Amino acid sequence: MPFYNELKYCIEMKQGKVAPAEGKLGIMVVGCGAVATTFMTGVFMTRKGLAKPIGSMTQYDKIRVGKGTDKKYLHYKDIVPLADLNDIVFGTWDVYPQNAYQAAVYAEVLKAKDIEPVRDELEAIKPMKAAFDKNYAKRLDGDNVKDCKTRWDMVVELKKDIQNFKKANNCSRIVVIWAASTEIYVPYDERYHKNLAQFEEAFKSDDREHIAPSMCYAYAALTEGCPFIMGAPNTTVDIPAMWELSEQTRMPISGKDFKTGQTLVKSGFAPIIKTRSLGLAGWFSTNILGNRDGLVLDEPANFHTKEVSKLSTLETICKAEEQPDLYGNIYHKVRINYYPPRNDDKEGWDNIDIFGWMGYPMQIKINFLCRDSILAAPLLLDLTLLSDLAARAGRYGIQRFLSFFLKSPMHDYTKGEEAVNNLFEQYTMLKNAIREMGGYEADEEID
Ligand SMILES: NC(=O)c1ccc[n+]([C@@H]2O[C@H](COP(=O)([O-])OP(=O)(O)OC[C@H]3O[C@@H](n4cnc5c(N)ncnc54)[C@H](O)[C@@H]3O)[C@@H](O)[C@H]2O)c1
Repeated sequence: MPFYNELKYCIEMKQGKVAPAEGKLGIMVVGCGAVATTFMTGVFMTRKGLAKPIGSMTQYDKIRVGKGTDKKYLHYKDIVPLADLNDIVFGTWDVYPQNAYQAAVYAEVLKAKDIEPVRDELEAIKPMKAAFDKNYAKRLDGDNVKDCKTRWDMVVELKKDIQNFKKANNCSRIVVIWAASTEIYVPYDERYHKNLAQFEEAFKSDDREHIAPSMCYAYAALTEGCPFIMGAPNTTVDIPAMWELSEQTRMPISGKDFKTGQTLVKSGFAPIIKTRSLGLAGWFSTNILGNRDGLVLDEPANFHTKEVSKLSTLETICKAEEQPDLYGNIYHKVRINYYPPRNDDKEGWDNIDIFGWMGYPMQIKINFLCRDSILAAPLLLDLTLLSDLAARAGRYGIQRFLSFFLKSPMHDYTKGEEAVNNLFEQYTMLKNAIREMGGYEADEEID
């Protein structure tokens, strides 16, 4: 019987059959900080017709489907069944006990006029106790923390949280997204992260060095039948053991790190240099940032996780091995400086040293005065809605089509796969996945 189910599933997928988005969709956000509350507030305000979800692909973008005289440009929701904003219910966990209203006020991202109209909705979102280990984020000192003796206890408690939330809110589906602080760097270690058996062994033996708290959230989510998205640069689901779990549970996973300011610019700008066969000598990126995210990243062990994620972008677009004359000696540096006066209003500077005809040097300067959480919020909406869609379409494992939204996109590095960081190639992947799930042909090849 399983074979026939599989076959039926394959045939249905070819026809673009996706289960409808019926009932409530629970979005459980790990971390109730600046990004999470800006996202929640925007969804509530949009629902009331008081704001517009600008920057969200699922709400605004149109994709061409069909060719020639049959071609049409449609919104995503007219191609595939997407959850409606009115069907979303939010849940959250945080180290601090403040409700989403208090956390939004504390974050100082949004003005009172954009928060007060949905104060009641935000006040009703009270963070559940966090699965937290201070060694993973030393700068945080909240006490809304689960009293767990082991990593496995954390998993058990988190699974209960998901089950209770789902029942209490009458949700038909749940998606779990990490928008909590960046943890210290946990590099892939094949002794613990290579396969699920080893990984579960490490959980059970309470190996706190190789099992981060974020892994407990991901493990709990996947085994509860929920897609999981990693919005920080943590390596949580970027290890083969988690890929195995996501295949076993048939759940989509994606990560890592929301692609917002500087990396968005880099992944959109580097293709200009590459496409015109210009040379690149160096790219220096620096930022000032003063929110709690910046505070956590001020700790070198936490910054290292971010640095690894941010550094990967350029080298996969301007490839040294393909064009040694042009990209054989790039000096790439990324810095984040904690500077409280700016709070969430991050300022990024990019100095790009390029060279042209006969090696003559030129410079490009980009100064991006952005708002971190304003750029991140629509990504949370798109990533959660599209992960829910992917699950209903029967897709599981790493969702490469979501690379568009992520700074350091997941890919199977054990098979020599490379990350796709070029924004325009990522967009093609996104459009093709939507087309395919909508029963249309994928018709733009990536070359
Ligand atoms: N804003 C952006 O542009 C952007 C871009 C890419 C990635 N990110 C990442 O998104 C995350 C959130 O950013 P932010 O600005 O909202 O930060 P924030 O500090 O305002 O919020 C993070 C929250 O997570 C909580 N937390 C930490 N560990 C936790 C745990 N184990 N369980 C539950 N809660 C926990 C903290 O108490 C804090 O309230 C960060 O990791 C950041 O690096 C942000």
